[in-house]
Amino acid sequence: MQQEQVPLHEPTAISNTCAYQPYKNDSLFEHATWVYAFCREHLFRDDTKRIITALWPEGRPAPGTTLIELGCGPGFYSCRLGERFREMSIIGVDRSGKQVQWAKDRAEALQLSNCCFKRINALKLSCPEAAFDVVLASRLLTILPEQAGVIAEMYRVLKPGGRCFVAEPRYACWASIPLLAMWLLVGLVPSENGFREPYKATVFSGDTFANLFLAQPWKKIRTWKDGRYQYALCQKG
Ligand SMILES: C[S@@+](CC[C@H](N)C(=O)[O-])C[C@H]1O[C@@H](n2cnc3c(N)ncnc32)[C@H](O)[C@@H]1O
Repeated sequence: MQQEQVPLHEPTAISNTCAYQPYKNDSLFEHATWVYAFCREHLFRDDTKRIITALWPEGRPAPGTTLIELGCGPGFYSCRLGERFREMSIIGVDRSGKQVQWAKDRAEALQLSNCCFKRINALKLSCPEAAFDVVLASRLLTILPEQAGVIAEMYRVLKPGGRCFVAEPRYACWASIPLLAMWLLVGLVPSENGFREPYKATVFSGDTFANLFLAQPWKKIRTWKDGRYQYALCQKG
């Protein structure tokens, strides 16, 4: 049976108030966009089924569900979920304009009118509290030093009862592959502002990962490991 197509309805919280926060950025993700997109598409595990099972054990989100993906990169998960659930409204945000453009092109090629992408710093979403039903972040904490700040932002923008799903790699050698590849390609280009991601991705022990979430008053926190990844599913009270 064909799913109903719904017109693009950007989550209003984002379209009204989440302007791009100027963020001086000389990131590897900006310079070697295709390298990361290639790794995402062909090397990394596709967790779409795990995300769906964890967030919607009944099989699908309620109509009108709003989801924000933080650090969406080339839009892999936003588009996968947008394709599967056309009734869900999805926004992916990333601080790299080129990753955002890649994600937009992907959504356009797939004719996903329920997905939009914006260049926004995940640490300063500047939308009102309680704006989204779901927050998704995959492989973001591994490269973002301000982990506590982004988790506080996840909590803030979730509606009461809303949930965040976080996926992070467990092994630095695997997690560092895209960083090393991007460094090899653009490492000799001088950074304009002195900022570059490190060669090596940050990975967390199980306890450290679980402790990252304790600073917010979540109603429920569940963390678990599965092969090369670990996950957190947290619910706001
Ligand atoms: C390792 S990639 C993960 C991309 C995607 N979520 C995935 O699963 O493949 C991390 C992404 O986070 C973005 N990023 C890093 N810091 C950010 C910030 N403060 N705000 C928004 N995006 C950020 C980077 O530009 C990059 O696209």
